[in-house]
Amino acid sequence: MTNLLWLLLLGTVVAVCGTDLTLEKGHLKPFGEGRPSQPVEELDYFPSAEEFFENYVKPLKPVKMKGAAKMSSAFGKWTDDYFLAQDEADVHKVSVETKKKESREQDVESMSFKEFVSKYNHTEHYMVDGVPKYLRHEIMIPCPLQCEQLMDNDFVDNVMWYSSGGTKSVVHTDSVDNINCLYRGEKTLVFVDPSKYGDKVDIDKPQGAYSTMDVDSVDYTKFPGMSEVEFYHVDITAGDCLYIPYLWIHQVRSYGSNLAVNIWWKHHLSSDLDYTQCNDPCDTQLTLADAKFAGFTELARDPEEVKSQLRSFVGHGDGVKISKFVKNLLGDNLIVLLQNDDVKTSINEMFTLLDIDKNALLSRDDLDKVSDEAWSEVSDIMYSIEQDIGGYYDDENIDIDDGDDDENNSNNDDDDSDEMDLHEEL
Ligand SMILES: *[C@@H]1O[C@H](CO)[C@@H](O)[C@H](O)[C@H]1NC(C)=O
Ligand SMILES: *[C@@H]1O[C@H](CO)[C@@H](O)[C@H](O)[C@H]1NC(C)=O
Repeated sequence: MTNLLWLLLLGTVVAVCGTDLTLEKGHLKPFGEGRPSQPVEELDYFPSAEEFFENYVKPLKPVKMKGAAKMSSAFGKWTDDYFLAQDEADVHKVSVETKKKESREQDVESMSFKEFVSKYNHTEHYMVDGVPKYLRHEIMIPCPLQCEQLMDNDFVDNVMWYSSGGTKSVVHTDSVDNINCLYRGEKTLVFVDPSKYGDKVDIDKPQGAYSTMDVDSVDYTKFPGMSEVEFYHVDITAGDCLYIPYLWIHQVRSYGSNLAVNIWWKHHLSSDLDYTQCNDPCDTQLTLADAKFAGFTELARDPEEVKSQLRSFVGHGDGVKISKFVKNLLGDNLIVLLQNDDVKTSINEMFTLLDIDKNALLSRDDLDKVSDEAWSEVSDIMYSIEQDIGGYYDDENIDIDDGDDDENNSNNDDDDSDEMDLHEEL
């Protein structure tokens, strides 16, 4: 009798859901397993700017550049003893994550670079911060990025990723292009091509451009689209560099004592690069110390960046109501910012400008029809909101936790109740 009931119940579940996703390969397995996967293309060198931008950046294709990081004097030289011998390391503060498995809600600590280096082998500490100024002259600008236009206007930020290995990032996207070079250890990256499967990977925290899925155990009942994606896998080892394309969905793991440095740059200006302005051959003396980094806040001034950011906020469907739009836009800053009347007015103005068909739903169709003038108005509004938030683009967990004042509000993912509150708020 009980068995029969069980079977009936199971039958109903399967009938309702179509197929039972819990039986599919990859369910409760790490991100990147159980589904078809292909390797990333490989080169044995840094390509020229023209080859790099034409073959990889414009078509948005990841590529591994084997051995390319060995051109920097940092390679081999950057030992812990070398760092500990730097005078500045005593006073220079760095921000350090406190857990190797990333969750964007974890604590970030500030400590001297020396303190970090002395203890990271025995702790969960993971330095994620800009390359210390006194070490920048030892990282060469990757050859294909040695172009005047890029170096003057387009570099956004650089980060040093330093741990004793075993780190696991969340599944996320970056609204910038990225070259990541590894100086110690090994990393594995898993990619999903957003042009093929962007609607299958639920980036359920659009404001921070990441997913809350457990990267060690992907639950198909919560993330059903994951049972349909295809992956790219790449392993990189000390000395290799990797191009991570703009907006590609990715997840990163590290193995063994680990140190990487990456550069982010704006994607959109790449399309009109004048290759005659790029160094060919490459200048091995040109380093991070010679480059200017505008920071992520400046991105909000760029209408093209704002466009792509807003596309991710409205999702792939019929569109979102203003309440959902606000939630995606402000994320964890929601409660605090909605107490600010200027912010509320700005958001209403922006929604009105963008909702072209005036159906109170904002969709990608609407966004495709917005005029250039309206986009520049929207960018101004986004920039002012950005200043209020203090850096919503700082989503590579480089922002320091500045207090726990919204501790009890930030984890509420119950859409319906949030939507109700928001309707009243707005
Ligand atoms: C940390 O461990 C690595 C290798 O496992 C070693 O080379 C390094 O010297 C250690 N660092 C310190 C500060 O003990
Ligand atoms: C969060 O809620 C708990 C219990 O509901 C309460 O004890 C705590 O003080 C709250 N924290 C904040 C920052 O409001």
